[in-house]
Amino acid sequence: MDSIVVKGNGPVKGKIPVAGAKNACLGLMPATLLSDEPLTLTNVPRLADIETATQLLRSLGVETSSLQDGQVLALSSQGADNPLAHYDIVRKMRASNLVLGPLLARHGKAIVSLPGGCAIGARPMDIHVSGLEALGARIELKDGYLHAEAPNGLKGAQIDFRFASVGATENVMMAATTAKGTTVINNAAREPEIVDLARCLTAMGAQIDGAGTDRIEIQGVDRLHGATHPVVVDRIEQGTYMLAPVVAGGDVELIGGRRDLLQSFCEKLEEAGVSITETADGLLVKRQDGPIRAVDVRTEVYPGFPTDLQAQMMALLSTADGTSVLEETIFENRFMHAPELMRMGADIEINGATATVRGVKQLKGAPVMATDLRASVSLILAGLAAEGETIVSRVYHLDRGYEHVVRKFRGIGANIERISS
Ligand code: UD1
Repeated sequence: MDSIVVKGNGPVKGKIPVAGAKNACLGLMPATLLSDEPLTLTNVPRLADIETATQLLRSLGVETSSLQDGQVLALSSQGADNPLAHYDIVRKMRASNLVLGPLLARHGKAIVSLPGGCAIGARPMDIHVSGLEALGARIELKDGYLHAEAPNGLKGAQIDFRFASVGATENVMMAATTAKGTTVINNAAREPEIVDLARCLTAMGAQIDGAGTDRIEIQGVDRLHGATHPVVVDRIEQGTYMLAPVVAGGDVELIGGRRDLLQSFCEKLEEAGVSITETADGLLVKRQDGPIRAVDVRTEVYPGFPTDLQAQMMALLSTADGTSVLEETIFENRFMHAPELMRMGADIEINGATATVRGVKQLKGAPVMATDLRASVSLILAGLAAEGETIVSRVYHLDRGYEHVVRKFRGIGANIERISS
């Protein structure tokens, strides 16, 4: 299994292009099932998760072709006749559950495996299920599969989510595009990836208002048509690389980076003493002289601080001046990076959903491993700040969500390589 070796090497400097958003793309791809005409996605990130989603769509009968070195994905659902999403694929990636709504809209029937346990928490699907039931689907759990049926089609409804789930908002929004009548989702998720999906669906002929607010209204239409849609930039990849010059010193320009998608994260970095400037091509991030100040962070649904940047922020705060308190409110088990950071000399105390991080002067390189995507990249960031060599194993997590991760870090002068073993 491959590992990544990082050596703390002083300040970094240069430019990093930000890829298209993995999470947006995983929501956009199933939208192809809503039309028989082709859906073409551009600015697609080259990632293992996108490959898994492609395999899933193929298993459902979708024709897929990857063009321009994987940055363009052409999808056609004309012959898609299989409503069954098999456990073998779904278990690899939870976001596979985003085919549930589109399959149901297409066939009046869907059989989708439950994704099973996930390293960062239980992650149930009750909000997806109750939302689709409100649209008239009958859904039963049998042998680990959700069996959903709507033989007479879906009907618009007023739905109040108990929590603003990203995936449930996407599933219900897609299913409602061709339902009869009007659907209103109250307490909808507001993430930029939802806005991106609504833009794509609108380009396909859907009638959607309010995406990006907590009330989304969808007027059902008879059919959707084909479209070409550019995937929005990956705010989580952007935020991750923004931290490179902050942990290691120096300055980095994120090409295509957008402050408006990461306002709360940028504000926290500024509070910690980081300079962020909008440029003609993106965002310039610079560590100012002097130590990074400790800051308290609480993860929240958008526009709050993203849970997907909590691990990376913890790596930074491990060497801040003072004590920071990080509170994780989205997932119940998302501090698995903490013991690994502690192996590198960080001083962290976990108490339920709260981590108290007492900044130390210097981290020290160590062999470490992580059990999820964002945790893995937080260990690379810690390695950039550490003295000596850090070896991060289980690199397959990184391949799921960071395109050309080694190349991008090397491009700013980091001493990092991937080794096969
Ligand atoms: C998406 C992102 C993920 C991010 C998360 C929160 C994708 C592919 N993934 O995941 O990277 O960390 O948003 O920003 O876009 N929940 C329920 N019942 C449900 C659905 C969710 O209890 O039916 C709970 C989950 O267990 C979790 C919380 O709600 O504790 C957030 O989940 P959700 O917003 O649905 O996240 P995902 O769509 O899975």
